Amino acid sequence: MEKTLSMKVLITGATGFFGKHVTKALQPHFQLFCVGRRDFDLLDPARADAMFLEIQPNIVVHLAAKVGGILANKSYPAEFFYKNMLITANIWELSKKYAIDKLIYVMPGCAYPKNAKSPIKESSLWDGYPDEFPAPGALAKKMGVAAAYAYRQQYGLKSSIIIPANMYGEFDNFNEYDSHVIPALISKMHKAKNNNVKKLTLWGSGNAVRDFIYAEDVAKCIPHFITNSIEFECENPSLKSVCNISSGTGYSIRELANLIGEIVGFSGEIAWDLSKPEGPSNKVFDNSNMKKLKLDCTTCLQDGIRRTYEWYCKNY
Ligand SMILES: NC(=O)c1ccc[n+]([C@@H]2O[C@H](COP(=O)([O-])OP(=O)(O)OC[C@H]3O[C@@H](n4cnc5c(N)ncnc54)[C@H](OP(=O)(O)O)[C@@H]3O)[C@@H](O)[C@H]2O)c1
Repeated sequence: MEKTLSMKVLITGATGFFGKHVTKALQPHFQLFCVGRRDFDLLDPARADAMFLEIQPNIVVHLAAKVGGILANKSYPAEFFYKNMLITANIWELSKKYAIDKLIYVMPGCAYPKNAKSPIKESSLWDGYPDEFPAPGALAKKMGVAAAYAYRQQYGLKSSIIIPANMYGEFDNFNEYDSHVIPALISKMHKAKNNNVKKLTLWGSGNAVRDFIYAEDVAKCIPHFITNSIEFECENPSLKSVCNISSGTGYSIRELANLIGEIVGFSGEIAWDLSKPEGPSNKVFDNSNMKKLKLDCTTCLQDGIRRTYEWYCKNY
């Protein structure tokens, strides 16, 4: 793809985990404007407006959000709801006000119904309530799908909604309190190895199955959504612009823990704490829409975790 310097692409949440991958992936192709919360706090409509006024973007890749793992979502559900509702509403309204060409909206797979059958298709997004703990924040993010439809119908605003599976990779958050499962396991096992811990207790039964995807691979798909008009066939018109980006393959948390243990070099025993929440039993995403676009995420879990662990060792 040639560099389209005439196209100004604003990335919100550029200072975050996925934002850093998206910045790297878009850098060669577009004129980028990368912002984080310290530049413009998007909870504040006036600051959000100032961001659009100053940058005058053609494209907005909207990643800014209140993000966290099960424990953080369980502990602060109102904060997750409130912040994501406000940021979501502000971004859609201002994208219309400043007449941008296209909004790329990224949202989490925990917005799907708790009982959605795997492989989870985009068409099932409205079929039920999400898993209890991430539901408040996830539903707030999901309002972006309603907004996409509403702003397209009323104002002709173009958008694509991308739902990546569980992303992992370099730049992730490795704090044990609010991290996702892969960085949490890497950090726990690395520390257990260094402290010669013989037994490590992990949350849940280890049987829950998840779909993991290397963040760099997902980021490399974004230019395709920026430069193409994409609509899928779907009975519900609000879901025509929604696309999962996933490996389509499930790994149990037990398999994942064994793999990370091997890579990190933790050889102690792993025990499972059944009293702790582990979310839905099986969550693998259908990737046929993504395949129709000829997009592919090729990094296997072993290679991706190896690279993530190398990055962790250099940076923590
Ligand atoms: N991680 C995943 O597995 C995953 C999977 C699917 C979808 N997603 C989606 O991908 C997006 C990015 O997630 P992430 O994992 O990269 O999260 P992250 O590392 O926590 O990054 C969040 C970003 O949002 C910014 N932000 C937070 N509150 C803000 C505010 N009030 N005003 C302006 N910016 C604010 C943060 O800025 P500061 O750094 O300055 O605080 C940061 O740049 C989210 O929309 C998330 O739902 C993530």
